[in-house]
Amino acid sequence: MAELDKPQREVGVPRDWTYASAPESRDIVQIRERYGLFVGGKWLEPAETYETIAPRDEEPLAAIGQASPADVGSAVAAARTAYADGWSSLPGSERAKYLFRIARILQERSREFAVLESLNGGKPIKESRDVDLPLAAAHFFYYAGWADKLEYAFPNRRPHPVGVAGQIIPWNFPLLMLAWKIAPALACGNTVVLKPAETTPLTALLFCDVLRQAELPGGVVNIVTGDGRTGAALVENEDVDKIAFTGSTEVGKEIQRRLAGTGKKLTLELGGKAANIVFDDAALDQAVEGIVNGIYFNQGHVCCAGSRLFVQESIYEPLVAKLERRLETLRVGDPLDKNTDVGAINSAAQLDKIRELVASGVYEGAEIYQPPCVLPEKGYWFVPTVFTNVAQSYRIAQEEIFGPVLSVLTFRTPEEALEKANNTPYGLSAGIWTEKGSRILWMAQRLRAGVVWANTFNRFDPTSPFGGYKESGFGREGGLHGLEPYLRFDE
Ligand code: NAI
Ligand code: MG
Repeated sequence: MAELDKPQREVGVPRDWTYASAPESRDIVQIRERYGLFVGGKWLEPAETYETIAPRDEEPLAAIGQASPADVGSAVAAARTAYADGWSSLPGSERAKYLFRIARILQERSREFAVLESLNGGKPIKESRDVDLPLAAAHFFYYAGWADKLEYAFPNRRPHPVGVAGQIIPWNFPLLMLAWKIAPALACGNTVVLKPAETTPLTALLFCDVLRQAELPGGVVNIVTGDGRTGAALVENEDVDKIAFTGSTEVGKEIQRRLAGTGKKLTLELGGKAANIVFDDAALDQAVEGIVNGIYFNQGHVCCAGSRLFVQESIYEPLVAKLERRLETLRVGDPLDKNTDVGAINSAAQLDKIRELVASGVYEGAEIYQPPCVLPEKGYWFVPTVFTNVAQSYRIAQEEIFGPVLSVLTFRTPEEALEKANNTPYGLSAGIWTEKGSRILWMAQRLRAGVVWANTFNRFDPTSPFGGYKESGFGREGGLHGLEPYLRFDE
């Protein structure tokens, strides 16, 4: 051995394979000092503004408009005018041309959007570049394809657009959620007023420039920024025909109460507490990758995150050992570094919520594991965390943490796994890891979840409908199903 070692040392083989930083340049993005509200194809000056920051170091990025109810009213009026003045009666093939253009421009400008998304939201550039941007463009391409085929999508039902859609989106996938909402709405002939989340408005504001490039008629898409008050004004506006909301269950319930009896259409995509279930015949190394992707992707700020891991007792020890070892290799840090696996927590408020729930897990008696990890001094950060010894009654097994925190529970039989997995007020997604196809089907039929992944997790495709059961909401986005909330039918 000594003979073999010697020449290796002479050619200087490194002993320590640490990563050199590989920062993505932010020069490609030009951020304005101040943004207005995008109404009727023009920039409206807001009376009040707030500052949006970069969560990685709290650097102020721009002044953003806090739209008032009157501003929201102007946006809805602009959307109504655009709807009546031609958009709703345009042939589907013409609407499709705009959507195809938007999709292509997003592809062309994807690096610019990815950098801005990571800067303003904190997610790793690797993810915004390889997931958010390609998927956002794919949604526009996909729904462009349906725009002139609605009669074939819904044979004998005579589909018509609904009117003006009010859309409220969260901060975890800012541009992707915008695409999920705007693409099907426009494909069906509706016009839109969209409100981005208050912490992540910048890619939606940059998207207005894509609309200009695509020469979309003014008023077809309007973007109003602001916090929950702006969202509430949009929900309450009488001239909005449909509300699409993605966010917390708490706000979703409030919106449902407000709209009860108004006849407005509503879709809600809310929280989750997904079960990721690993059977003893699963390929363990693949399962570990799936578990990591399931909960540490996008810092765990994912409504369908696999936040409850159910492990069959016979493989509990080897699986947890592999998982903990894998956690040590996750690189936490600058979202703009191409090597980063886990970026910054989106906001101080979200970081507080994660800390509070993690403290409750320790207090209630779970065992905490966090790999050694040096966090940057400024900004919002949380170390990827695994809790073992978790009882179903603990808050960390019941409440959505929306952070990089996994709760591990165990089971013995498929029936027990199923019962525990379904023991939640939510029902958005689930994962199954096993070699047996029959077991996958048996479980998938019985899991009360809108999406069930088998031997994979967090896979998205525009052709596949997404949405929840129970307190995870109702209505589907994506696929053919995703057209329906934006249509009414003569039946
Ligand atoms: P939130 O539900 O308050 O915010 C989501 C969107 O709704 C934002 O655009 C916000 O401005 C808007 N909004 C807030 N109050 C509103 C109201 N009364 N009427 C209309 N729109 C309103 O979520 P928040 O406070 O950012 O996060 C709290 C928790 O919610 C998170 O910790 C997480 O557990 C969950 N959440 C779930 C998401 C999902 O994708 N299902 C996304 C974001 C948060
Ligand atoms: Mg809130």
